[in-house]
Amino acid sequence: DDLIAEGQVEGKRVFVRADLNVPLDGTTITDDGRIRAAVPTIAKLADAGATVIVASHLGRPKGEPDPTFSLAPVMTRLTELLDRRVLFGTDTVGEQTEKALAAARGGDVVLLENLRFFPGETSKDDAERGAFADRLAALADAYVGDGFGAVHRKHASVYDLPARLPHAAGGLIATEVGVLKKLTEDVSRPYAVVLGGSKVSDKLGVIDHLLEKADRILVGGGMVFTFLKAQGHEVGKSLLQEDQLPIVTEYLERAAAKGVEFVLPVDVVGATEFPDLRTKAPAQPVTAPVDAIPADLIGLDIGPESRKLFAAKLADAATIFWNGPMGVFEHPDFADGTRAVAQALSDGSAFSVVGGGDSAAAVRILGFDEDAFGHISTGGGASLEYLEGKTLPGLSALEN
Ligand code: 3PG
Repeated sequence: DDLIAEGQVEGKRVFVRADLNVPLDGTTITDDGRIRAAVPTIAKLADAGATVIVASHLGRPKGEPDPTFSLAPVMTRLTELLDRRVLFGTDTVGEQTEKALAAARGGDVVLLENLRFFPGETSKDDAERGAFADRLAALADAYVGDGFGAVHRKHASVYDLPARLPHAAGGLIATEVGVLKKLTEDVSRPYAVVLGGSKVSDKLGVIDHLLEKADRILVGGGMVFTFLKAQGHEVGKSLLQEDQLPIVTEYLERAAAKGVEFVLPVDVVGATEFPDLRTKAPAQPVTAPVDAIPADLIGLDIGPESRKLFAAKLADAATIFWNGPMGVFEHPDFADGTRAVAQALSDGSAFSVVGGGDSAAAVRILGFDEDAFGHISTGGGASLEYLEGKTLPGLSALEN
């Protein structure tokens, strides 16, 4: 903001590293939340007369151009939202991008094609990443880091590029960090955390950390079956990470010793086949109590009694952090658990933070009013790692 006020960005090429990694169904964007969140910083710089180079990754291509992961659908949506000239640098750092930049005037936006089409973006080798960062740096006069969702990645555009250009943090990163700080310092209690999503192995760090901070941890999603198994239940054909059973058992014991309440579902909804998420054909859902899950059932959501239990455990919380859907919400037969948690957060008076690409998308896809939540983060892994107290490469690079 200071640099804009001093007129320092006018006529300059400013590289904005955004996180435009949106969910796609083919070429249709199913949730544009991350693009909308990126717009204010881009618009501010363009209004101040900069040529704004916008760059992001999308999905996990294998270091070479792959049309499945093109930012073309993002280009269309960004153009609609910005209502100004947006050019597409179709080769990210090559001749086509040079041409687009040569044609751009102050106030224009040049969106680069997927950064991960180049192996240097994600390489573990410092020199390879550095060489790619050099190519990106050659495009711009200054750098603004605003892709909060990617700050936990030690990638060229996130970590190495800011060291090569005058740099600043964008408004989205500032907002996200400000909100997450509230969850780590002076938290209003009771502090309840709702965790879901498929793999418990992705959540170990955050559970370990939250056992020291939270009063209650509610668990749903695919990861819950490892918890249920650790408690001695049979889980049928549900997702189970056997190798994580010892650590999950240890967490349950530690929580009991510390007086942290683990709230697990008392019933689940499932089916004998994984539902078709494209056609959303009816799936013949079955409800079962957790102590009688049939051997052929795949658990796909928390059940009706669990929804009531979870709502009650959230009703008197003063602070709530939610990461990860409670079930396969993309299918209407298995969306009720996720809907119930979203409803509890939007009805309640707690300061609520929805973190995680999937849970944030679920809130919007299920039609909730975003304003009813304290904050909907654009960061999934990034917000979890922030809460774990880890050093995030994309934030430390901006501090230096
Ligand atoms: C996310 O979706 O969490 C971010 O965009 C980072 O994506 P990644 O997990 O593929 O690095």
